[in-house]
Amino acid sequence: MITGQIRLLLWKAIETPFQSNLVMKCALITLSAVSAVVIAGALLAISQFNLSAMPEPASMENYLATSARRLLVRRGSREAIPTAPANLAASIEEGDKLYGTDCAACHGLDGHKPTDAGRWMYPRAANLTSREAQQYSDRELFWIVRNGIRLSGMPAFGKVETDEHIWNLVHFVRTLPASASPKDAEETP
Ligand code: HEC
Repeated sequence: MITGQIRLLLWKAIETPFQSNLVMKCALITLSAVSAVVIAGALLAISQFNLSAMPEPASMENYLATSARRLLVRRGSREAIPTAPANLAASIEEGDKLYGTDCAACHGLDGHKPTDAGRWMYPRAANLTSREAQQYSDRELFWIVRNGIRLSGMPAFGKVETDEHIWNLVHFVRTLPASASPKDAEETP
């Protein structure tokens, strides 16, 4: 009877580490398998990656990039933004002058049809008359022009233009949808 109990205790003492060893082994095997799949996926993605700016971005890529941009611009524009010039008409007029030298090279003179350089950047230069571009608040547009958009062709103008000039550009960008030609306006989503 006692020897039976001792034997049982002994068995338990041997069995428990054996079981936890088994759990450890299973966890390690699963971890290695998952890592192998992740590494294989990354290698496949790298081998398929195309550096060319010619192919159109996939719709999923566009969706993800647009959502991330909107979110980050909204967050960024919570920082202190200087007040806008009070005289809107004068501000738009000044913005018109700056737009030609600062923005038209990529976004096109009418803001609707990007130039060849803008059209074939990756990501593409945006249509500034589009609903997507006009949906930004004034603060957000100010933030974009001042800070630019990292990992894209959109430059930061914060060190190039004064805050007042940036506001002038924002005010002018607001007038672009109305001044785009009627044909262009129809195409605009
Ligand atoms: C060298 C090319 C270039 C110049 C110059 C340039 N942009 Fe851009 N801009 C871009 C590109 C490329 C994008 C798209 C970025 C992206 O998709 O992430 C963009 C995006 C934008 C957006 C965001 C649009 C959206 O739908 O999210 C605004 C607003 C904008 N530009 C305004 C301006 C203004 C105003 C100027 C002049 C002060 C200017 N840009 C000058 C290339 C340029």
